[in-house]
Amino acid sequence: MKRAALVDISTTATEILGVDPLTGTIWLVTGTSSGLGKCLVTSVLSRGDCVVATVRKPSSLDDLALTEEQKGRLRVLILDITDSEENIRKLIGEAWVVWGRVDILVNNAGRASTKALMEEGGLELMRAEYETNVFGTMKVTNAVLPHMRQRKSGLIVFLGSRVVWQANTPVASSYISSKAAIHGTSPSAFSTPAQDRTTNSSSHQ
Ligand SMILES: NC(=O)c1ccc[n+]([C@@H]2O[C@H](COP(=O)([O-])OP(=O)(O)OC[C@H]3O[C@@H](n4cnc5c(N)ncnc54)[C@H](OP(=O)(O)O)[C@@H]3O)[C@@H](O)[C@H]2O)c1
Repeated sequence: MKRAALVDISTTATEILGVDPLTGTIWLVTGTSSGLGKCLVTSVLSRGDCVVATVRKPSSLDDLALTEEQKGRLRVLILDITDSEENIRKLIGEAWVVWGRVDILVNNAGRASTKALMEEGGLELMRAEYETNVFGTMKVTNAVLPHMRQRKSGLIVFLGSRVVWQANTPVASSYISSKAAIHGTSPSAFSTPAQDRTTNSSSHQ
């Protein structure tokens, strides 16, 4: 099995063999160590696009079976979305210059905590859920938006959850409310500067 190399994020487009950033779509996907994020990285590479995939552990994508050509279209960025706004802005800036733009941001990184009764998990659990699912997601989004607004182009995807409409799901209130916050935030955040073509898309599973 071929392994995905962890490549220096500062490598620029011109240094990436065989990739023409003018023809493919450039994706930035958060939380790609497992699950939906990891699957999406494989799908994006399979369709010939380029992707900056964020992980917290450097080795997380080592088990992907990729051709040399596909590896050329993958860059791995170490990013914890609960990091400071300043650090995230800096890292997103680095992601942006790899191929000179990002066409699609997929806010996939998220956590669903150990299930607990509201009073058992308490505010500590709720805060932890919000730090990732809400504030972390918005830190990444806020760091990407100025770049997209400048280009007047971009698509931002939020991973919501259908449990928002099944709020009687037991012992998951912190998770559900954090996803509800994202559902509520994204339309408003994108409705104001309607002159540009930056759009958002929420995925409800
Ligand atoms: N699977 C479902 O049925 C379902 C349903 C509705 C919504 N969703 C949403 O879809 C998204 C992906 O879910 P999944 O099922 O694929 O979950 P998953 O396999 O647990 O993947 C979650 C990803 O988020 C990353 N992550 C967590 N906290 C992070 C942080 N602070 N900074 C950066 N990355 C972080 C994880 O990285 P580490 O490995 O480092 O922890 C992992 O890569 C989530 O937003 C989830 O809420 C999933």
